[in-house]
Amino acid sequence: MSECEGCSSAAPDGSCTSTTGCDNPEELKLQQTLGRIKHKIVVMSGKGGVGKSTVATNIAVALSLAGKKVGLLDVDVHGPSLPRMLSLKGQKPHMGDRTMEPVPWSKNLSVMSLGFLLEDDRQAVIWRGPVKMGLIKQFVEDVMWGELDYLVVDCPPGTGDEPLSTLQTLGPTAMGVIVTTPQGVAIDDVRRSVSFVGEVGNRVLGIIENMSGFACPNCGTIHEIFKSGGGEALAKEAGVQFLGRIPLDPEVANSGDEGYPYLKVHRDTITGKALEQIIQPMLELPDPPKA
Ligand SMILES: Nc1ncnc2c1ncn2[C@@H]1O[C@H](COP(=O)(O)OP(=O)(O)OP(=O)(O)O)[C@@H](O)[C@H]1O
Ligand SMILES: [Mg+2]
Ligand SMILES: [Zn+2]
Repeated sequence: MSECEGCSSAAPDGSCTSTTGCDNPEELKLQQTLGRIKHKIVVMSGKGGVGKSTVATNIAVALSLAGKKVGLLDVDVHGPSLPRMLSLKGQKPHMGDRTMEPVPWSKNLSVMSLGFLLEDDRQAVIWRGPVKMGLIKQFVEDVMWGELDYLVVDCPPGTGDEPLSTLQTLGPTAMGVIVTTPQGVAIDDVRRSVSFVGEVGNRVLGIIENMSGFACPNCGTIHEIFKSGGGEALAKEAGVQFLGRIPLDPEVANSGDEGYPYLKVHRDTITGKALEQIIQPMLELPDPPKA
């Protein structure tokens, strides 16, 4: 995309015709930031508690362990959970003049969350839609993400302001990853998320079925405790890719509570392998054309 797209001074070929300098420096800054990010992955679901934050964190860690430069952005302004999940609570991003540095988790993974900016967790945050919109835009525009292979965004549940402004800020190349659980009720919500992404003008990269079967710590196999496969059936119905299933695994819950991503310590397990399989289509995304 041309960085002048949408500007009234842009010529039909995308070049700048302004004689007084750029008319829209904010937009230019945003487009320059986005131009340094190869792939934008927005993790969402119509339903709460299905594991979006857990999945977003582990996807980001898996991509970083595969040698990719990754940014992880938490746009859940009411209940930011990434600082806790990554043991980064209490960290403060370095602030410059109108810029912020994301908090590093490892050499390849840096994180930004409203949680870093709030004084304490109990601080109630009441944001109106336009304020949230501005905040999310700032989290992309004013954060010094640098050159990234992937920006992974963790959204709050639903198809409200946050996923909407995230997709709008990141532009049409951002792709939705939808998390569901095997149960029927969740499936209806997911169907809504799939059409939401399409309505905003973006593409769904795929669907992940989380908490699908139980990873038994005793025998190391997956027990099918509920009917699974709903995510896969829905993916087929909606014509989108099924990225894979992640079992319900007590270690996943423990790791989240204790503040380390599951994949950091468990890679050679059924769940670890499931997560690595899920990122394969992300690793295979073709590089965007050079601007
Ligand atoms: N595969 C899994 N196995 C076991 N526990 C899991 C799994 N996925 C998520 N959990 C647990 O389920 C709970 C909810 O997960 P998480 O916070 O990631 O969901 P969420 O969809 O982001 O929630 P919210 O809608 O509130 O943002 C957490 O305690 C997490 O540790
Ligand atoms: Mg969450
Ligand atoms: Zn067993």
